[in-house]
Amino acid sequence: MTSAARTPGRRCTRSVPGGPAPVTSGRRRWVSDQRGEPILEVTDLVKHFPLTQGILFKRQIGAVKAVDGVSLRLYPGETLGIVGESGCGKSTVAKLLMNLERPTSGAIRYKGEDISRLSGRALKAVRRNIQMVFQDPYTSLNPRMTVGDIIGEPYLIHPEVAPKGDRRKKVRELLDVVGLNPEYINRYPHQFSGGQRQRIGIARGLALNPEIIVADEPVSALDVSVQAQVINLMERLQAEFGLSYMFIAHDLSIVRHISDRVGVMYLGRIVEIGSDQEIYQYPTHPYTQALLSAVPVPDPVASGRRERIILAGDVPSPANPPSGCHFRTRCWKAQSLCAEVDPPLTVPGHLKDAGPPVAHPSACHFAGEKPEVTAE
Ligand SMILES: Nc1ncnc2c1ncn2[C@@H]1O[C@H](COP(=O)(O)OP(=O)(O)OP(=O)(O)O)[C@@H](O)[C@H]1O
Ligand code: SF4
Ligand SMILES: [Mg+2]
Repeated sequence: MTSAARTPGRRCTRSVPGGPAPVTSGRRRWVSDQRGEPILEVTDLVKHFPLTQGILFKRQIGAVKAVDGVSLRLYPGETLGIVGESGCGKSTVAKLLMNLERPTSGAIRYKGEDISRLSGRALKAVRRNIQMVFQDPYTSLNPRMTVGDIIGEPYLIHPEVAPKGDRRKKVRELLDVVGLNPEYINRYPHQFSGGQRQRIGIARGLALNPEIIVADEPVSALDVSVQAQVINLMERLQAEFGLSYMFIAHDLSIVRHISDRVGVMYLGRIVEIGSDQEIYQYPTHPYTQALLSAVPVPDPVASGRRERIILAGDVPSPANPPSGCHFRTRCWKAQSLCAEVDPPLTVPGHLKDAGPPVAHPSACHFAGEKPEVTAE
């Protein structure tokens, strides 16, 4: 990438972008001693959407508890994957991080500063550093705008990043960076394939030189072969520009491929969080164990050894989540304590002596049984 699109002082391992690299099996694993201070820290984040009744005189009759006490940290240069079933609150977390929704309570700290209640200029300055890539490359691009206008749109809000005369040049560079021909600058979204459109979405996300990219199901709408190309591109850009990613998906295998750490969400909460090895080899929360037991294994012998956990019942409504542990209505290990006491997301006391990778944060009173249910 040319110097115009690079931020001074950031880690940059390549000077000229090439096409997408082949899928790599041995992703660089982010090491715990590289952590330092988190670039983003979320504490007890809550988002309740009011449920109202009445036409003229609306009165609140309840609330959809979309996010119900999420705490997590994102460290510079890492990818934190977030997985969970549909409706568990993943996109709401993403919107809260982007300040597209205001939290009911809780804090979102970017480099130590709580940004959740910022507005005006202060919010604009922070937003520049946190950008989003959306799921659907078909609907997230305005069909009436050229690719040049779409990618260059953020410069209208942040003209300081690219003076008017430089914008076309910058957009061409960005097209090149994401593996598209800069000559396509005047084309319209319908002239591109799904994978190419997602590259355009990524180029737009990079336009302001952000430090953090929140990617909400960025490959879910794409064919499997194209998914790999887009993931490779994201990995290459991360290494090139030192980006930190929050990567949201419901597919455990995809999340595993790109993530350094993974957080598992259920009904508005993170129930287990840890490294690739901790989550996929030593899952201790029954919900994670159930999710992993449903992941297909290519080896028929290993597959035959595994016990598939079929969860009973549906996910409860977030408007009326169960007391105590939100997972208790579907958990085969639930006991009366689970209805009374909400298990905190912490390293369970009875696992502490085992040390990592078994001992890692898991919101379950009885965490750690059924270790045979792993991703192999
Ligand atoms: N603006 C809103 N008003 C009311 N309820 C909402 C609103 N946005 C989201 N919800 C509800 O909050 C819950 C979480 O939604 P969210 O979109 O965050 O889930 P998700 O994990 O991203 O799901 P999916 O995997 O389907 O994208 C859902 O029950 C949803 O219906
Ligand atoms: S706290 Fe109880 S209900 Fe919740 S996951 Fe653990 S055993 Fe199951
Ligand atoms: Mg979503």
